[in-house]
Amino acid sequence: MRTPAAGVTLASLQAGVQPRLEKVKHELRRSVASDFPLISEVNGHLLQMQGKMFRPTLLLLAEEASGAQDPRAERLAAVIELTHLATLVHDDSVDHSVLRRGMPTINALFSHQVSVIMGDYLYSRAMVELTRLDDLEPMRVMARVTNEMTVGEMRQLMAHEPLDFSEYEYDLLIKAKTASLLSAACELGALRAGARERDALRRFGEQLGMAFQIVDDLLDYTEQETVTGKPSGNDLREHKVTLPLIYALDRLTPAARAEVATLMKTAEPDDTQISRVIALVAEAGGLDYARGRGQRLAEGADQALDELPPSPARETLRDSITYVLDRRR
Ligand code: IPE
Ligand code: IPE
Ligand code: MG
Ligand code: MG
Repeated sequence: MRTPAAGVTLASLQAGVQPRLEKVKHELRRSVASDFPLISEVNGHLLQMQGKMFRPTLLLLAEEASGAQDPRAERLAAVIELTHLATLVHDDSVDHSVLRRGMPTINALFSHQVSVIMGDYLYSRAMVELTRLDDLEPMRVMARVTNEMTVGEMRQLMAHEPLDFSEYEYDLLIKAKTASLLSAACELGALRAGARERDALRRFGEQLGMAFQIVDDLLDYTEQETVTGKPSGNDLREHKVTLPLIYALDRLTPAARAEVATLMKTAEPDDTQISRVIALVAEAGGLDYARGRGQRLAEGADQALDELPPSPARETLRDSITYVLDRRR
């Protein structure tokens, strides 16, 4: 059993790599720059929205923990964050979400058309940066992952019978849309290391990434938008069935199940309907169950780290597991 460290914050995880993260931010700014007016206006907005930079942090820590130095790590980290940003721009348009990182989304501020084009712009900038490295290996990883993430987002959209969505399908979904990128971040950090380290970090990232998405789905149920910087209850509003509800559905009374079915049929459910379903899910143990699954994935991530040589970076990666489970935004 893992013993979670106390007092892990994002700042404590990033302290050791802060100067390198500044370089990543610089790379990011440089690589998106454009002299086309609307693109540079949207870029200005995107660069103002400060994200957690969690994936670049993982990549840099993975590089240190892998034992092999890679002078390309900051550039690879910028490619990872750029890819993440592209998926967020598209995701907010698909999810009709108006708030991200506490600021209006591109679709809210500009339009869905601009979101589609800007997401593509960011993806293609990431590719340009990758080709500049002149190495097929990171390109192989990123080509696979961006494709997998797209299929993941499609899987979500195609869940037509939300009430029949199974935990198995949910696992496939979160692996594809979220864990694949966190796993790639860890793997790319270890490109110059041995196969054993690379594989251990890839598996660490995958389990951490699944836990990350489960926690994100829990936050959608439990946390205020002033804390997360994203609209709360948006998954139910968009008829998205996530783990807490999947678990609860089999345990609801017929009347409660009917309430959920009504919400799923209502084109624009109101806040009262949403709070009511959240309360039903909580009563049926859905939130506790999802937390438990997050913890089991955390155990797996922790074990994968045991395969790496001991180092301060390895222990910081261990702390990142605690951070993922405890985070509120
Ligand atoms: C949001 O990711 C998308 C998910 C996979 C849940 P983050 O929570 O890392 O978003 P930012 O980059 O910090 O805004
Ligand atoms: C994760 O799913 C999005 C991507 C991996 C692109 P969500 O739709 O839950 O992410 P948020 O909540 O909008 O950040
Ligand atoms: Mg979303
Ligand atoms: Mg979410």
